[in-house]
Amino acid sequence: MIQEQWTRVDQYFTDILVRPDPMLEAALKASDAAGLPQIQVASNQGKFLMLLARAQGARRILEIGTLGGYSTIWLARALQSDGRLITLEAVPTHAKVARENIDRAGFAENVEVRLGRALETLPQLAAERLGPFDFIFLDADKRTYPEYLEWCIKLSRRGTMMVADNVVRGGAVIDTASRDADVQGVRRFLEMLSTDARVSATAIQTVGAKGYDGIAVAVMTKDP
Ligand code: SAH
Ligand code: DHB
Ligand code: MG
Repeated sequence: MIQEQWTRVDQYFTDILVRPDPMLEAALKASDAAGLPQIQVASNQGKFLMLLARAQGARRILEIGTLGGYSTIWLARALQSDGRLITLEAVPTHAKVARENIDRAGFAENVEVRLGRALETLPQLAAERLGPFDFIFLDADKRTYPEYLEWCIKLSRRGTMMVADNVVRGGAVIDTASRDADVQGVRRFLEMLSTDARVSATAIQTVGAKGYDGIAVAVMTKDP
């Protein structure tokens, strides 16, 4: 199997099940125009996140790593009408483009884009008692996933679902000797999930328009 085929199958799934979406297309266009990297989730993955969050009945969603707000808009669509989503982003231009995209998509009232390094903004959320979150999407710098996991657990409750993106990276995750801090961060993150008695977790490999990668999914089986 080759990338071209994975992309064509993703296109087929998107055409038949996701369908054209002016708000999300506008968000991508604005993100491209502002020079943001095209590393957002694929459209069928975005809808998958929405379906998971909706199945959770999520009223409070936390996202770590906003970029232009593409996954944010998908997740916001899962919210109950009184729901709130907080998304954390370190790069001011990303946060600005995201804010505009999210407002245009109609979620100005429901979504807060919080600017700053997530290791600084996560303790703020805890101090402001903005948790517990029902659904958490972890998608910022991979080297810091272990520290993010500790905060995600603190900001969760029994039943909270967490999804972490990019845990495979073309298979690099099994390279025990990797000098890539992102690979080591993901490996440590998975080890923490495996040993923490409060969470039950698995990981899934994916192929598609975004190449060969994968997600980890964890559910809190106890309160933190
Ligand atoms: N979730 C987005 C993609 C996020 S890409 C989507 O699928 O649409 C990862 C983002 O994390 C980038 O915008 C990057 O600037 C941000 N990021 C990287 N390090 C960060 C940090 N320490 N704190 C907060 N955000 C960070
Ligand atoms: C890349 C992809 C991502 O989904 C992400 O969150 C960060 C980086 C990448 O392809 O480089
Ligand atoms: Mg990602």
